[in-house]
Amino acid sequence: MRLIFVGPPGAGKGTQCARLTSRLDIPHISTGDMFRAAVKRGTPMGVLAKKAMDAGELVGDDIVIGMVRERLGEEDVQRGFLLDGFPRTIPQAEALEQLLAELSLKLDAVILLEVPDDLIVERIVGRRSDPETGRIYHLKFDPPPPEIADRLKHRSDDTEDAVRSRLKAYHDQTAPLIPFYEQRDALRRVDGVGSMDEVTARLVDALS
Ligand code: AP5
Repeated sequence: MRLIFVGPPGAGKGTQCARLTSRLDIPHISTGDMFRAAVKRGTPMGVLAKKAMDAGELVGDDIVIGMVRERLGEEDVQRGFLLDGFPRTIPQAEALEQLLAELSLKLDAVILLEVPDDLIVERIVGRRSDPETGRIYHLKFDPPPPEIADRLKHRSDDTEDAVRSRLKAYHDQTAPLIPFYEQRDALRRVDGVGSMDEVTARLVDALS
């Protein structure tokens, strides 16, 4: 299955993709995670990306498209993929369409995870991740076990200011993907409000 996940920051894309990747046995490709790995390694791309990410802005299309092109050329993608956070602009969506045509691959669906802006800030500011397992927690909605509390990380772009810029970038640059994929009859809307299990059940239903 080849799926794209679109939705505002903090909608639960990463949380739900982590659940579906094992269920569907296909790789979870998150451009945000790829940039964070590049930042950690201190690569030139990581240095460039960090500046944009901390400001809550998008990284340039050429950089993202090049990175995804390379990733989609890898062997494991033959089984399918969950693309999380890409595409995020119309030029990225057009580039993906061209790339998939070159690879003779077809998209199955674009999942739009819908969560209103007023719930986003609380979700983002309370997010923590475990650097040892990559598992995402939320201090209130999905609390981590106390014994790992000391090693949990708070993303540098998970501040209230950066979230507001990220939401603006979403509405200005990413929301135009909704009519883009509606016109292609690919868009499936899934309500992202409710418990994580409820959202997973809706997703499974939408995909069946
Ligand atoms: P990226 O990492 O993709 O960030 P994002 O899209 O802003 O999404 P998030 O990871 O913040 O949220 P999510 O939807 O995955 O939510 P999560 O499941 O963690 O991108 C970061 C940056 O990289 C961008 O700002 C940009 O600079 C750059 N970038 C990446 N891709 C790019 C691209 N294609 N083009 C250009 N630039 C790009 O959940 C959030 C929290 O809520 C967690 O704590 C979770 O536990 C909790 N939660 C989840 N579900 C629920 C629920 N149902 N109820 C209550 N809490 C919940």
